[in-house]
Amino acid sequence: MTRYSRITGTGSYLPPRRLTNADLAAELAAKGVETSDEWIVERTGIRARHFAAPDVFSSDLAVEAAKNALDAAGLLPSDVDLIIVATSTPDMVFPSVACIVQNKLGIGGCPAFDVQAVCCGFIYALTLADAMIKTGSASKALVIGAEVFSRILDFSDRTTCVLFGDGAGAVVLEASDTPGILASDLHADGKNVGILCVPGHVSGGQVLGSPLLKMDGQAVFKLAVGMLESTARAALDKAKLTEADIDWMVPHQANIRIMRSTARKLKMPLEKVVVTVDQHGNTSAASIPLALDVSVRSGTIKKGDTLMLEAVGGGFTWGAVILKY
Ligand code: UT7
Repeated sequence: MTRYSRITGTGSYLPPRRLTNADLAAELAAKGVETSDEWIVERTGIRARHFAAPDVFSSDLAVEAAKNALDAAGLLPSDVDLIIVATSTPDMVFPSVACIVQNKLGIGGCPAFDVQAVCCGFIYALTLADAMIKTGSASKALVIGAEVFSRILDFSDRTTCVLFGDGAGAVVLEASDTPGILASDLHADGKNVGILCVPGHVSGGQVLGSPLLKMDGQAVFKLAVGMLESTARAALDKAKLTEADIDWMVPHQANIRIMRSTARKLKMPLEKVVVTVDQHGNTSAASIPLALDVSVRSGTIKKGDTLMLEAVGGGFTWGAVILKY
């Protein structure tokens, strides 16, 4: 019998501190940085984001999301035999967030590691977990995206600090005799490192270079739309489906204009695009599992629906997954 992998539970967690655009604009104004709700909504679709308290780390958000996903799947932490966390904002240089999550869940022994593909991290992590399940090295995987991007924002740079938020999303991916993950398409191209990066590094007991996010927004925007269209088409081809077979597109939540433009290029109706960027901002690797969980819990996405997940992120990295939920 063919061995497949299937999502059996989703979960998410947002830190309680929620800032509307007006709240953020007021905080920035006190520092002499000018922005407005109107500009942010018009250029990005973002209306609010959540920021974690200073003593809360990616692993804390990840654990809450993971517990919710395990509850939804009807599993205990001790059932888990693989943990993959996608993050670019780990608790520390090492060990991985996944190992910290494993310990906080009170389990040990199973493989646990992080994936670093920035905003495309969850697509990479899900693809890896699927491959490990299909080849028999895991049966019940926790795949998590967790970020505290507020830690790496330059609050004197209005072109970036209004875009991002903190949060976590998780799925339980289990071995199944019916298909779940149908196809996946992954890419990377390192020549655009400089247009979206956090250049700082640790050396000789110091952080050398800026530990804050730097982005050329327009350059990212132009590259993103083409990459998302091509990876979506490649994943559809691999799954032997067309855009008409997709019930819901769950894109990385970076900017409503990028999501709409990708949907238009794919000739998919905008009503089929899941949008949470308005409430979460860009939560990088957490954005897709967060959007997925919100849609599952609201009843928008139902068992048996065919989904397209897709993302582009720093690196550049980009990819898509087609799955039967
Ligand atoms: O997940 C990672 C992937 N990242 C992304 O997907 C980001 C992709 N890029 C974008 O989403 C957009 O490029 C941005 C939202 C970052 C910027 O939107 P834009 O339409 O490309 O604006 P722009 O950079 O062309 O800036 C237009 C104007 C500028 O003023 P001038 O030069 O025309 O006078 C900016 O200085 O808007 C100004 N501006 C702002 N004004 C108020 C830039 N940021 C702000 C701000 N508030 N926060």
